[in-house]
Amino acid sequence: MCGLIGYVGRRADRNVQEVLLDGLSSLEYRGYDSAGMAVSNSSLAVYKREGDLSALEGALPDEPLDGVAGIGHTRWSTHGSPSDANAHPHTDCTGRVAVAHNGIIDNYRALRESLETDGHEFDSETDTEVIPHLIESALERGDDAETAFRWAIDRLEGSYAVAATYAGHETVYAARNRSPLVVGIDDDGYFLASDVPAFLEYTDAVTYLDDGHVASIRPSGVEITDERGACVDVSVETVEWEPEDAGKSGYEHYTLKEIHEQPRAIRNCLRGRPQELTGDVSIDALEDVERPDRIQFVACGTSYHASLYGARLFRERSVPATAFLASEYDADAVPVDDGTLVVGVTQSGETADTLRALRDANRAGATTLAVTNVVGSSAPRETDHAMYIRAGPEIGVAATKTFVTQQVALAMLSSGLTGERSREVVAALRDLPDRIQSVLDESRARTIASEYAAADAYFVIGRGYSAPVALEGALKMKEITYKHAEGFPAGELKHGPLALVTERTPVFAVISRDSNAETMLGNVNEVASRGAPVIAVTDASEAVAADVDHVLRIPETHRRFTPILANVQLQLVSYWMANQLDRSIDKPRNLAKSVTVE
Ligand code: G6P
Repeated sequence: MCGLIGYVGRRADRNVQEVLLDGLSSLEYRGYDSAGMAVSNSSLAVYKREGDLSALEGALPDEPLDGVAGIGHTRWSTHGSPSDANAHPHTDCTGRVAVAHNGIIDNYRALRESLETDGHEFDSETDTEVIPHLIESALERGDDAETAFRWAIDRLEGSYAVAATYAGHETVYAARNRSPLVVGIDDDGYFLASDVPAFLEYTDAVTYLDDGHVASIRPSGVEITDERGACVDVSVETVEWEPEDAGKSGYEHYTLKEIHEQPRAIRNCLRGRPQELTGDVSIDALEDVERPDRIQFVACGTSYHASLYGARLFRERSVPATAFLASEYDADAVPVDDGTLVVGVTQSGETADTLRALRDANRAGATTLAVTNVVGSSAPRETDHAMYIRAGPEIGVAATKTFVTQQVALAMLSSGLTGERSREVVAALRDLPDRIQSVLDESRARTIASEYAAADAYFVIGRGYSAPVALEGALKMKEITYKHAEGFPAGELKHGPLALVTERTPVFAVISRDSNAETMLGNVNEVASRGAPVIAVTDASEAVAADVDHVLRIPETHRRFTPILANVQLQLVSYWMANQLDRSIDKPRNLAKSVTVE
C-alpha cells in the first residue's frame, strides 16, 4: 500500500530529490496509483502526479530541487480516487507545511468539518489533508513547528505513519500509530521510511519508531521523544539485508528472481535450527515456550495458506490447531486461555487484519507468537515471541520465497514445540534446498504455461498436506495472470466445482506418492472424463502418467514436504503464463504488498 520516504542531509554528492526518487522507486512494490514529493527550502516545492513514478519525474523541473529536507510518498487510494489533487504530500492553506501519511485517520470527517468552519480550504478528498490544516491552526496560535506537529498528531484517531516538513526549516518531523516507520542513520544523512528497502542502498543502520514517539530529523541528528516530549534512548540495529538482495540481479522480474532464490532462502531459514545428530529442532528465542494446549493461526492471503499447512502439521503431532483468516478471527468466539498459543503468520509483520487479531489474542490472555520476515515490524514488537523466516527482502507483490520459508519455518516450529526427534525429518529439511534447485533446473512449467495460457479458467486440486498448496497455486495464478483460478481440496470437486469443469479448464493435480495417490487419481479421472486437460504435479510420475495429459515432476522427499516442492512447479506455471500474457507480474493491478488497513 502507500509508501513513505523522508531524507535530511547536506552531503554535496547527494541531492534530496534524487534520494527521494530512489526511495520511491524502491517502494513501488508496495503498490500505488500516484506519487509525490515536497522539498523544503525558503519555500516548499511540492510536486505530485497521478500514475506511476515516471509521471512525477516528468513533472519535476529540469534542475533538481534544492534543499536539505524532503518527504516523498507513493499513494494507494483509500479516501478519494487516484488524482493529482489526492496524491500526497498535502499542504495547509498557506503552503507552509507539507504532510505525507500512510494509514487511515478514522476521525477525519469531524476534524475536517471543524477546520472548514474555521475557514480552512481543502484541495483534496483525502483524510490526510486534515493534518497540515491542523498544524496550520497551531502555527497561527503561535506554536513552534514541533509543538504544532505534536498537537496535530494528538488530535488524530486511527492508524498512521506521518511525515511533515515546513518551509524554511531543515527538519522532517515524523510520528506513527500502528503503521510502520523506520529511521535510517548514515554518517551524513538521516532517512525515514515505511520500509527498509527505501534507503537500503545508503545505510543499513536503523532504529524503529514506537507508537506515540515523535522523531525530529535534522542535518545534525535525530531526536526521538515520547508523548510528553522527553528524549527517548533508542537502539540502533543493523539490517542484515544487502542492497543487492533488493535488486533484480539480471532477472526480468523480481518474482522470477525470488522464485529462484528459494533454495538460498530455505538455507537461511534452516540455519542453526535442525540438529542433524539428535534429530530435534531448536528455535532461537523460543526455548522457554512450552508445548501449547492448542494453537490458533491468524493470517491473510498466502500466509493463511502457510498457516493451513502449519495447522495440519501440529494436528498430526496431536496438538489441536486451527488456521483462521485474520479478518474473521474473534478471540471471544473461540476458546482462548493461557494454554493457547496464537501464531500470527505475516511476511511483512504489518498486515492490519493480522495485527488486530494478535492484539485481540493478547487481550484474551493467549501467548502470542509472530512468524515473520521483517525484523522490527509491528507483529514481532507486539507479540510475546517472534520467529523469523529469514527469506530476505521480497519485492514482488505476490509472495513466493516467503511462502516457502513460512512452510519450512512452521515445519520446524511444529517439531520444535512438540519435542519431535526425527533424524528422517531433519535430513529431509536439510535436503530441501537441493530438491528445490532440481525442480528449478528441470521444470517444464514454461511449456505447460504456453500450452494452456489461453484457457478460460484453471483449477488446482490436492489432498491432505497438499490441499493448502492447491489454494496457494490458484491464488498465485489469479494474482499474476489475472485469470480465473480456483484451488480446493480434491474431495470437494464433486460438491459443486465439477459443474464448471470443461475441456477449456485445465486442472492441476498435486499427487503425492505417499499420501492419497489412489484417491487423487480417482478425482483426476472425474475431471478427465469431462474433457478437462490434467497436469499432474507429482513425485509418482510413472504411476500417474497414463491417467493425465502432462506431468510436472518433483523429486521424492518426506511426505510432509512434497507440497513444498509441488508449489515451486505451480509458481513457475503462474509466472510463465503471466509472462506470456504480458502481465504486470511484480506489481499486479489493484494489489499491494503490505495491506495496512482492515
Ligand atoms: C497482501 C499481499 C499477499 C500477502 C498478504 C498477507 O495481500 O499481496 O501476498 O500474502 O497481503 O501479507 P503478510 O505480510 O501478512 O504475509
